[in-house]
Amino acid sequence: MEDLEELKKQFLETIETCDIAQDIEATKLKFLGRKGLLAQFRMNIDFKSLSPEMRGEVGKGFNDLKNLFETKINEALRKVSGAAKTKAPAIDMTLPGSGHTIGSLHPITLVQMELEDIFMGMGFYIETGFDVETEHFNFEALNTPGDHPAREMQDTFWLTNGMLLRTQTSANQVRALTKFGVPIKAIFPGRCFRYETIDASHENTFYQLEGLVVDRHITVANLISVMKLLLNQVFHREVKTRLRPGYFPFVEPGFELDINCLICGGSGCKTCKNTGWLELLPCGIVHPNVLKFGGVDPEKWSGFAFGLGLTRLAMMKYGIPDIRLFNGGDIRVLEQFTASV
Ligand code: FA5
Repeated sequence: MEDLEELKKQFLETIETCDIAQDIEATKLKFLGRKGLLAQFRMNIDFKSLSPEMRGEVGKGFNDLKNLFETKINEALRKVSGAAKTKAPAIDMTLPGSGHTIGSLHPITLVQMELEDIFMGMGFYIETGFDVETEHFNFEALNTPGDHPAREMQDTFWLTNGMLLRTQTSANQVRALTKFGVPIKAIFPGRCFRYETIDASHENTFYQLEGLVVDRHITVANLISVMKLLLNQVFHREVKTRLRPGYFPFVEPGFELDINCLICGGSGCKTCKNTGWLELLPCGIVHPNVLKFGGVDPEKWSGFAFGLGLTRLAMMKYGIPDIRLFNGGDIRVLEQFTASV
């Protein structure tokens, strides 16, 4: 039994000094290995010569010591692996770079930035508004009460608290009128959401850029000239457009300004649903009820508004035939846009 105490003391002193895994493994081999000190100790005991009581005591002492060795070795191993984790630097700053580029701006961001520049040049200011909107600003204040048939065109995602994911950046119109008053000249770029069937030109999440101008004596002529200037600047050339009547409860009169499909040149493809034209820029003269909702007197003020489909504009500008490519996460698509961050 004295020898067991001696072995225990020797083991504890050794394990205490081990601070790397290799040393702990060596200690394990030395004391617990098949030919280790504990095994040798056991082989040297002549059990037959011991009384039954002593035999039990030695056997128990032997097993207790073995358990102690194992526990201490496992503890020591856990300790060094934890220390390795906390000591290791998160990034090895000495490694050479991987050679990857750091990324590029998304094509929609590029178009948005370009449009913001164009509008700032015309004296517009920029607000982004909120993705989560109230029913009031998204519909009611836009002359679209709950039972209005136009709501059917913009089915959306409702939150349990009665708010919704905005279906149109037009939700900013009355917000801005209430906040800034008139005269006003602003754009509102941002994400919109609709519960709809996805195809080459429709996504459930897409971008619009709303524009609102309210001042004295604003007419359709002002609206058309700003729209044409905008498209010519974005495409750096004159693009073919067509204006046709369009119905939106919050403008009167309302128009659809379509652009000749730049994917097929107007001959018809899946992007333009074989019509040769793409709906891009609905617009119109702000309805008097909307002005009233914004606290503005329609007898004194008039204005125009437009809701540019930013995602579709990016498709036309960069020749992207399918809207699903924008959110598809395919790096081969995105890395073609060279403006690096
Ligand atoms: C509107 O959203 C109106 N708020 C626009 C407006 C503003 C009219 C101000 C008058 C005055 P519309 O639902 O047509 O209108 O959408 C406007 C543009 O957003 C479309 O021309 C199209 O380019 C784009 N758009 C609409 N739905 C989707 C969709 N699911 N996926 C991609 N783009 C879409």
